[in-house]
Amino acid sequence: MSIFGTRPEAIKMAPLVRELALRPEFESLCCVTAQHRQMLDSVLEIFHLRPDYDLNIMEPNQTLSTITSKCLMGLEGVMSQAKPDLVLVHGDTSTTFAGALAAFYQKIPVGHVEAGLRTWDRYSPFPEEMNRRLVGEIAELHFCPTASNRENLRRQGVENGAFVTGNTVIDALRTTVSKEYRFTTKLLNELDYTARKVVLVTCHRRENYGKPMASIMTALRRLADDFPETELVYPVHLSPVVQEAAAQYLSGHPRIHLIPPLDAEEMHNLMARCYLVMTDSGGLQEEAPALGKPVLVLRQETERPEAIAAGTARLAGTDEETVYAMGAVLLRGGDGYTSMARAVNPYGDGQACRRIADAIAWKFGLSHRMPEEFAP
Ligand code: UD1
Ligand code: UDP
Repeated sequence: MSIFGTRPEAIKMAPLVRELALRPEFESLCCVTAQHRQMLDSVLEIFHLRPDYDLNIMEPNQTLSTITSKCLMGLEGVMSQAKPDLVLVHGDTSTTFAGALAAFYQKIPVGHVEAGLRTWDRYSPFPEEMNRRLVGEIAELHFCPTASNRENLRRQGVENGAFVTGNTVIDALRTTVSKEYRFTTKLLNELDYTARKVVLVTCHRRENYGKPMASIMTALRRLADDFPETELVYPVHLSPVVQEAAAQYLSGHPRIHLIPPLDAEEMHNLMARCYLVMTDSGGLQEEAPALGKPVLVLRQETERPEAIAAGTARLAGTDEETVYAMGAVLLRGGDGYTSMARAVNPYGDGQACRRIADAIAWKFGLSHRMPEEFAP
């Protein structure tokens, strides 16, 4: 049983749910908590997923406690009815933690997809770092995107059941991006991606709420002011906190386009055509390098150091002057830009879902073949 609830979990679990459904040795069930409602439904539609269970828990301005307790209560009923042999959770959200805990309460083994990412700072990202550490304790199977993720698990004392598979987001990306793609969003079809510098922005993390978000957004507005050839496209997350900040700091500018969240196909194809990505999102940090786009990470730290090591991403932090200065270097073009604009694939080769399914089959004695590991 695959359990997920937010947009990124859904995008990254969709190809795995599909892979499991295609394999005769498994019966694949799918349960969504709908921690996100609209943003989840958009992914379900794009990837043609029909959940077997939907807890529909989302509330406006929900707190961490409400999400966790509603998921836990709902999942208790679902799991006692369906009695799965294995529960799969993804990443580090409240749904992830509650899904793993609910399975543990019923002594159902847990497989953790996107395991082993760490900053080693318990409050950043918050609450994700603690969610994933706790799930690391509960899970019996750990599907690590990279070898360094598995090293992190070892440091936490997890020695067994870890497989290096690549990140399933790269599998997803292979099904969404195409050169011929035509956007359904009018603005995105009208933008001139050759003559203009289209900067794709997202910003939503809880630890950036308040001052850091205000500083980031002020820097973005200054970049738009000072570089007249830029078009800043920001699909704004539906969190009321983020909506309010974006309206306050970024609205009313002719070259800053605040638009509703995009569906995954629109988003991935926009990323494939843009000039630069500025983001605090985890998923975007993984996708942009595969598409050859430089990334400025709008955070103090990252659990995804691989793209930084490869030279295609840089940590810009959340200080206004630094974000502005680093953005300016890239917008000026030249070597500062071209040295970062290279396609690299440190996060996966599009085969993660096959490896995960193979590892599950092997673990349950349904196959004698352990999957080969992902190596970039
Ligand atoms: C959650 C995850 C975060 C992940 C992010 C991806 C936790 C604690 N956080 O954060 O790790 O990076 O999702 O986007 O699990 N809302 C809607 N409609 C939607 C989605 C959200 O209206 O489709 C609004 C609601 O008012 C909701 C609020 O956004 O209460 C916040 O959603 P929530 O899931 O609590 O937090 P995120 O910041 O989205
Ligand atoms: N995404 C999307 N539409 C948007 C913004 C993001 O489809 O308007 C996709 C993005 O391409 C990536 C995932 O959602 O696959 C990342 O989700 P998000 O940034 O919400 O969460 P995070 O990865 O930070 O947990």
